[in-house]
Formats: sequence, structure tokens, C-alpha cells
Amino acid sequence: MSTTYRIAPSILSADFARLGDEVRSVVVAGADWIHFDVMDNHYVPNLTFGPMVCQALKPHAVRSDGTPVPVDVHLMVQPVDSLAAAFAKAGADLISFHPDASGHVHRSIQAIKAAGCQAGLVFNPAMGLDVLDWVIEDIDLILVMSVNPGFGGQSFIDSALRKVEAARRRIDASGKDIRLEVDGGIKADNIRRVADAGADTFVAGSAIFGQGDYAAVVRAMRAALAA
Ligand code: DX5
Ligand code: ZN
Repeated sequence: MSTTYRIAPSILSADFARLGDEVRSVVVAGADWIHFDVMDNHYVPNLTFGPMVCQALKPHAVRSDGTPVPVDVHLMVQPVDSLAAAFAKAGADLISFHPDASGHVHRSIQAIKAAGCQAGLVFNPAMGLDVLDWVIEDIDLILVMSVNPGFGGQSFIDSALRKVEAARRRIDASGKDIRLEVDGGIKADNIRRVADAGADTFVAGSAIFGQGDYAAVVRAMRAALAA
């Protein structure tokens, strides 16, 4: 069975003065999802945007034929539940959180799903996957961090590849349809290695928004994945 790869541009590296235009441009360039990095200056040492900005951008995440582009919210916040609920109301399609930021991981997952969104768990570079022993059957997405969360433009941490392989084994053993996404330092020249380790969904911020021609970067990434 061939894998359907998804590319999820992170608007963390977009021009914040023109966010609606940036979302539309990256959709035209071929984005499969829009990755929305929420930072609270507490769980991570940076501060970005909240549910009101998500709600304002939601109408811009649409293809020319009217198909919505899923909004992939990555919560780097502590606590999790109140903001997760606010993002569900603001139009998020997928909501992922760091298990170490939630007092009650199972409850947070159930709350996200009860709000009508898909739920994901995020694993920092030094964080093991053990919590999946207990909740893999409840989630829709595993997000492996290949940088420490908080900033765009960092270098890919190679040990993430081993974690992606381990996560892929767990997904295959579960028999469930779970997306395996990787976040941080992804470029056209390393995306293939990450896919070979078992990932099917790729966040890319600076690699895309740092270039003038977003479509050319997305095309180069797809070409690397197809090669
Ligand atoms: C980092 C964020 C990432 C970030 C990735 O905390 O979760 O989504 O935007 O940026 P790049 O692709 O530049 O490493
Ligand atoms: Zn992210």
C-alpha cells in the first residue's frame, strides 16, 4: 500500500503582519494541512497566537474549489484542557498536546475528541513513547519533535529518526489509522530520510516561508518523497 504523504507548513515562520495572505499563499503552493504553533511563554519560552487568531485564519484555509484545508493545532501550553476547548471552537481540525503538559492525558484526549477534533500526542526530543502503551487506541496522530519546541529555524536532531521508527512499529502493531508527523528542521534534503524512518506527515516552517517561491519548496519536498 502506498503512503499518502502530507506536508504541513508551519505559519510560525510566516509574516505575522500578513497572516491571512500567507495562509492563502501556502494553500495555493500545495499545503495539505496548516500547522498552527501555539506557545504560551510558560511551557515553552516563546509566545505566539491564540484561538482568536485561529478563528480569523480559518476562512483562509480553503482551496480554490472550496475544500477546507485541515488546521493542525500544535499546543505548546500548560495546562492543556481549557485552551484545547477554545481551539476546538475556533475551528481546529486536529489538536495535539504534549503529554508532560497535561495532568490527565487520557482526559485531555477525550475532551479534544468530544469537541469534534482529532487528537494527537507530541513527544519532545528527550521524551519516551511509553504513554502510548495506554492511549494509542484513543489517538489519531503522533507528533515526533525533531527540535526542542519553542522556535522555528533550528537544526534537525537525528535521534528523532529512531523515535519515528519506534512510533511506526507501535502504530503498525495497533492496527489503527494513526498519522505519524515530524516537526522541526525538515527540509527538501532530509525529508526523504524522515519518510524512510516511517513518517507520513511533515511540518516545515522556515524551509517554506524562508523562500520566495513556496510552491517550489513544496514541489521539491514531494519530489524527494516520490524519488
Ligand atoms: C517548534 C514548532 C515547529 C516550527 C518548525 O516549536 O513546533 O512547528 O515551526 O520550524 P522549522 O521547520 O523552521 O524547524
Ligand atoms: Zn509545531
